[in-house]
Parts: sequence; C-alpha cells; structure tokens
Amino acid sequence: MKPSIKTFYHTPSSTMTYVVSDPATKTAAIIDPVYDFDLPSGQVSVSSSNEVIDYVNEQSLDVQWILETHAHADHLSSAQYLKQHLGGTVAIGKGITGVQKTFKQVLNLPTFTTDGSQFDQLLVGGDRLPLGDLAIKVLATPGHTDDSVTYVIGKNAFIGDTLFMPDSGTARCDFPGGDAALLFDSIGKIFALGDEVDLWICHDYQPGGRALKFKTTVAKQKADNIHLANDVDKTKFVSTREERDATLAVPKLLYPAVQVNICAGHLPEPEVNDQAFVKIPLSLIQ
Ligand SMILES: [Fe+2]
Repeated sequence: MKPSIKTFYHTPSSTMTYVVSDPATKTAAIIDPVYDFDLPSGQVSVSSSNEVIDYVNEQSLDVQWILETHAHADHLSSAQYLKQHLGGTVAIGKGITGVQKTFKQVLNLPTFTTDGSQFDQLLVGGDRLPLGDLAIKVLATPGHTDDSVTYVIGKNAFIGDTLFMPDSGTARCDFPGGDAALLFDSIGKIFALGDEVDLWICHDYQPGGRALKFKTTVAKQKADNIHLANDVDKTKFVSTREERDATLAVPKLLYPAVQVNICAGHLPEPEVNDQAFVKIPLSLIQ
C-alpha cells in the first residue's frame, strides 16, 4: 500500500514539513516540523505546529515517529512540542553527535552533552523503522551536514537538504562538517533508488517567483538538475559547489536554530525569571 503524504509549507523559512501515514493502520511519521520564530523579539510560537496537530487529530493518526532529516540551520525544530501533544519517537541521524561536538565548541557550551542523548533514537544507514504495515528505510546521505539522512517509504524518498527542485540545484556544503564530495556520493545513492521514485524536497525558494514545488522524481533530477547537468563528474561538481558556497550568506537563524536543533528541539533552559536565551558568537571586523 502507498503512504498518504500531507505537506505543510512554512513560508518564513521555505521549509516543508511532511506527515506520512499508513492508510491501513493510521500510523504516522512527521518529518521536519518547525516552530515559528521571530528573531528580533525572540518569540517562539506554535501556529504552524498546531496546523500539523490539527491535521493529525482530524485524520485520527497515531504518530509513532518525529524525524529530522538533519540539524537544520534555518528554522527551529518543534519536535518536542509535537511529541508533547502527539507522542512519537524523536529521531535523527547518528552524525548529529559530530554536529553537536562542532557547535559545542563554536558556541562554548561547556555542559552540553554530545552523545545525541537529547534525541530518543539515533539512526544509521540501513535502519528500518516500522510504520504500521509500511516501513521507513534510512539512507545515510551526508554532505550538506554530517547527520543528513534520507527517509525512504515505498517509492517515496524524503531527501532533506541534498537536492532541491531541479531548477534550484543542490544544498550548500559549507557548514562545519559539510563536504561537497560526500554530497555528490549521497546524490548517487538517491539516484540508485530508481528513476520512478518520488523525491520530496525539504525547502523550495521559488526561484523567479514561480509557484511552490516540493515533489519531483529521480528521473527529473537526473535530466534537469542545474548542478548535475551534462553528467557532471565529482571533481567538477565539487568545484562548482564550493565556488557557489563561497558566495552564500550565513543563514539568518543559524545560531538560534542550531542551538535548539542539536538539542532535539528542546528550548534552552530558563536562566532567570523563566527567561531562556540563545547565544550568538560575535566577531569584530576592522
Ligand atoms: Fe539544511
């Protein structure tokens, strides 16, 4: 049986959240949930997450999994909020421990634990997670980040930040732990799933103002992806990717997002008067 797939688009971060469910048993997984976050005020809110909760309740779904494709740098994960309201096991790729070690240093978080224990489960390539009568197969797809994984459910792959829609190319590889050569190999693994497999995209930035798109196929990516055209080889891909990455700005929400996301979507502990904080490293440019 095919899974039911419901897409939620978070406009401020251009992120797709997916609810994937087994129609026979109503068992569901939520992939890449988002908080609404207003940087100037520090306000974290839940209206986008509540849309997901409403859908799950309307459909009488039983959420077994809350899955991250990776530690995102552009939005704050609402995994814990959804877990609190819907249940489910919060899981991410085991490579999160490397991301945690990196940002423990970058952000000077001396008491932060880097064994991934903030998550309920750490995943490695080859893992198979039950989803009612269906299964979620985990494919390790590092390159954008160390911890990036793809979730394969039947003929559907939720590919995180590896490939965007064909007109938008591939994900940046310049974050700590990113590696364009690894991304090229990971794209090869996604292509090996088969031409007919549907690829569900994590972000769409609507280039040229075109309508939102979030679903494509392996065949279409092979034919049309602007970073992979003309059977580009690994060396050429890496140089093109690295040249482009050198021009990209730091994501606006990088530091707040990473602090929450390496902690499985737990907001920082309040310090005084119930007030929590995030850190931003400063550098003086003269
Ligand atoms: Fe990302």
